[in-house]
Amino acid sequence: MTETDTIQKKPDPCSFVIFGVTGDLTHRLVLPALYNLAATDLLPEQFCVVGVARRGMTPDQLRESLMQGLRDHATRPVDDTIARRLLECVTTIEADVDNPASFDGMKDELQRLEKRRGTGGNRLFYLATPPTAFEPISQQLGRTGLLDEDGGAWRRLVVEKPFGTDFASAKALNTSLLKILQEHQIYRIDHYLGKETVQNIMVLRFANGMFEPIWNRHHIEHVQITVEERLGVGYRGSFYDATGALRDMVPNHLFQLLSLVAMEPPARFDAHAVRSEKAQVLAAIQTQTEAEALANSVRGQYRAGRIGDTEIPDYPKTKDVRPNSTTETYAALKLTIDNWRWAGVPFYLRTGKALGAKRTEVAIKFRQAPFAMFRDTPIERLSQNYLVIGIEPAESITLQFNTKVPGPAISIDGVAMKFNYRDYFKAEPSTGYETLIYDCMIGDNILFQRADSVEAGWQAVQPFLDAWKKAGGRGLEPYRAGSEGPAGAEALLTRDGRSWRKLT
Ligand code: BG6
Repeated sequence: MTETDTIQKKPDPCSFVIFGVTGDLTHRLVLPALYNLAATDLLPEQFCVVGVARRGMTPDQLRESLMQGLRDHATRPVDDTIARRLLECVTTIEADVDNPASFDGMKDELQRLEKRRGTGGNRLFYLATPPTAFEPISQQLGRTGLLDEDGGAWRRLVVEKPFGTDFASAKALNTSLLKILQEHQIYRIDHYLGKETVQNIMVLRFANGMFEPIWNRHHIEHVQITVEERLGVGYRGSFYDATGALRDMVPNHLFQLLSLVAMEPPARFDAHAVRSEKAQVLAAIQTQTEAEALANSVRGQYRAGRIGDTEIPDYPKTKDVRPNSTTETYAALKLTIDNWRWAGVPFYLRTGKALGAKRTEVAIKFRQAPFAMFRDTPIERLSQNYLVIGIEPAESITLQFNTKVPGPAISIDGVAMKFNYRDYFKAEPSTGYETLIYDCMIGDNILFQRADSVEAGWQAVQPFLDAWKKAGGRGLEPYRAGSEGPAGAEALLTRDGRSWRKLT
């Protein structure tokens, strides 16, 4: 089956206006994703890519640079005809966010271009810029009327992450955007929602009748959400040191996983119903006091070590990182959700850089059998019942259970049934942005974050941010690059009589 067999609808004609067109994100992900959409015939017939550039960049220079990006980052062999056709529609418009007056002529220029290209005035503005530019650019677009949905055309704004740096700034950014746009025009990206395995969580839960009856506090003992990375901070020292593991990963990526696992069944599979349920469950995460947040969290910072063939330096010795930095590169949290489904079921979250393995997974631990019926196998020796949703790199679903070892005696061992995506489906390698960009063009917000869930996410992590800020370096645990993370992370579960699934 090809991608086009399952997705038929071609997007409306439109112009795709990119801010940050010379940047890494555009070259590494956006253009390769547009190429993949072109290769599967999922771009509109009338289409143009407009790079908003500072003075002096010609369309030819931009095309050349984007072509290089495609050569370096394409996920499939580049077909010259398709690439040429895509790049032919690339042009530039001059505007500079530091000079608001430079936006004045943009509307006329775009309209002329739209007439030539026959795009009907539909516009998608993609902010692939540093986050400090989100607000000023959108204000200029608002001021010059570029976002007004006049003449029957749609106008949409795609905002990359990070969306705010805490609850107050996320709220302020939402307020500012919602003065010039309606919620349905805003597409807040979280690239985790572009992952097939993440999208499948809802299908696993709601397209199968057998999980729902046991998907609650009566049968689920706790949930572990893990996003572990092998890479260190690398060249992103300046961004990362101001951000840290918690801000970088938890209110967005880990909470996407949490909300999909914990949400109530939506009434319909549409953006409104699905996003309402996700927002509700995030809002039900218990707000902790700062003292509780300190007790229910662990922070770590990596020290030098070897991962594979790579020597990783101490985090504070990384380029653009402050030598006395107290920024965490590892975070583990214990959260609870105050609703009828989840009361009393802890959700343990952990994420970190420079660890021994790359692994993203959700592990759902079911309650033990209530008593030891089998002589010689005490209950604590029974293998634990986990349903493990492998997001990456293992794209799989595994059910762990106990079984009888063949032989005359009753001897019990833990085994697993495993579903691997690749055994059933053959997917073309992709950037993970194709579905997201396609959905923006067809106007489906289901895979994008709504204002209320972004704010609920920040609200839940705010006590941790505040408590950690006050604690400074106190409580920040060093861990060796290439290890499983700080010892305190294990202790967070041990004190509850539990343990993390091992890094493998
Ligand atoms: C990004 C973070 O949003 O997600 C990075 O800024 C992180 O620090 C990345 O490495 C992880 O994404 P993935 O898809 O590799 O799990």
